[in-house]
Amino acid sequence: MITTEQAISLEDKYGAHNYHPLPVVLSKGEGVFVWDPEGNRYYDFLSAYSAVNQGHCHPRIIKKLKEQAEKLTLVSRAFYSDQLGAYEEYMSELFGYDKLLPMNTGAEGVETAIKLCRKWSYEKKNLTPEKATIIVAKGNFHGRTTSIISFSNDPVARKNFGPYTPGFVSIPYNDLDALEQALQEKDVAGFLVEPIQGEAGVKVPDEGYLTKASELCQKYDTLLIADEIQTGIARTGKMLCVDHENVRPDIVILGKALSGGAYPVSAVLANDDIMECLRPGEHGSTYGGNPLACAVTMEALDVIREENLAENAKKLGEIFRKAMADFIEDSSLVSLVRGKGLLNAIVIDDSPESDTAWNICLQLKENGLLAKPTHGNIIRFAPPLVMTETQLRDCISIITDTISTYEQENELN
Ligand SMILES: Cc1ncc(COP(=O)(O)O)c(C=O)c1O
Repeated sequence: MITTEQAISLEDKYGAHNYHPLPVVLSKGEGVFVWDPEGNRYYDFLSAYSAVNQGHCHPRIIKKLKEQAEKLTLVSRAFYSDQLGAYEEYMSELFGYDKLLPMNTGAEGVETAIKLCRKWSYEKKNLTPEKATIIVAKGNFHGRTTSIISFSNDPVARKNFGPYTPGFVSIPYNDLDALEQALQEKDVAGFLVEPIQGEAGVKVPDEGYLTKASELCQKYDTLLIADEIQTGIARTGKMLCVDHENVRPDIVILGKALSGGAYPVSAVLANDDIMECLRPGEHGSTYGGNPLACAVTMEALDVIREENLAENAKKLGEIFRKAMADFIEDSSLVSLVRGKGLLNAIVIDDSPESDTAWNICLQLKENGLLAKPTHGNIIRFAPPLVMTETQLRDCISIITDTISTYEQENELN
C-alpha cells in the first residue's frame, strides 16, 4: 500500500506542476465520504468541482459502468452503436432540445458550442465572413483550451499562452446595460455565460438577470449559450440553474456530473435550426458519445431524478446558508455567504493574496472535511447532493468550529 507521503512525492516528481492540491491523498470514496490510504475519513465538500453530485462510486452507476464495460466500450463515430441513439433520445426528452452533440470534457463542450454558434451565425444570420464575435462575461471560467483562455481575464490562466484567439468581447458579469450595448455592435453571434460564476467564487447574479439576458439575445437575434457544466445536474436545486428563472438558452453545455464522476462526459444541446448547421466531417471526437459514456450517463441522470437530488440540494442549501449567516454575525473572519442549492461559498475578510483561506482549508482537513479556496480568499462549499441533513449539520459544526478556533488562535476576536 502506498502512503500519503509516498503518493505526494511521486506526483511531485513525475507529474507536471499545473495544480496546487491540498496535501491529502484519497484512495477510496463512498457517497459523501472519501478516505486516505491511512484510513482517515473525510467529508468531501468539493465533489470534484461539482462532478460527483451523485456521491462517490454510486452503486447503481458503478454497476452500469461494469455491465457496459464488459459488453462494448468504444466504436468511434465511424459506426452506429446500440447506446448512442437511446442516450440522445433520453437527453432530448429530459432537457427539451431537438438534438445533442456528445463530447468528453467540459472544455470540449464549450469549444463545440463556440463553433456551433459561429457556424449558425454565418449560415443563418449572414454575418460578415470570419468576423463573428461572441460576448463573454468578465470573471468567466469555461476551461483551459487555447481559445477559451483567450477570453479569460485571469492573468494566471492567460499569461504566456498567446497569441490569443480573436472574436470575443468581454463585458462585466451581471450587467444588462453592458450586454445590450455589446449586442448592438456589428456581427455579434452569441452570448456565452455561466448562470452562476463558480470558479470566480460562486458569484450569483441578480434575480432576473438571466431572464433579461435571454430577452435581449432574442431581441438582437443572438444565441444565448449557457455553460451549465458546474451549475447543472441538480447542483443548484434545479436540474439546470437556468430553470430557476424558466429561461431557455439556445445552446446548453453540460459536463461534470452528467456521469456522476464515473467517466468524462460532456454534451451540447440545441434545436435543429442550430444543430443542423453541422454536417459530416465538420466536428467530432473519437470518444464522444461512446457506448460506455452513454450507458453511464443515462444511469447517472436516473439517479439524480429518482433520488430527488435537486430537491435535496435546495433544502440543504437553505439550511447551510442560514447556519453560515448566523455564524457570520459574530465572526470577525467571514464576511459573506452566498450561493444557490449546494453550490455555496464563504468570503474571508482578508486580502485575496493572503493565505488565510488556504490555512483554514488545511485545518478543515485536519478536522475531517475537504474544501478548497478559489480566487484567494473565497472558500467554495459543494458537497455531493446525496448528503443527509444530519451529515450536513455535522459538517456545519466542523466548519464553524474550525473557523472559530482559527479566529481565537490568531487573536482575531
Ligand atoms: C463553468 C465551467 N465550464 C467549463 C469547465 C471546464 O470543464 P473541464 O475541466 O471538464 O474541461 C469548468 C470546470 O471547472 C467549469 O466550471
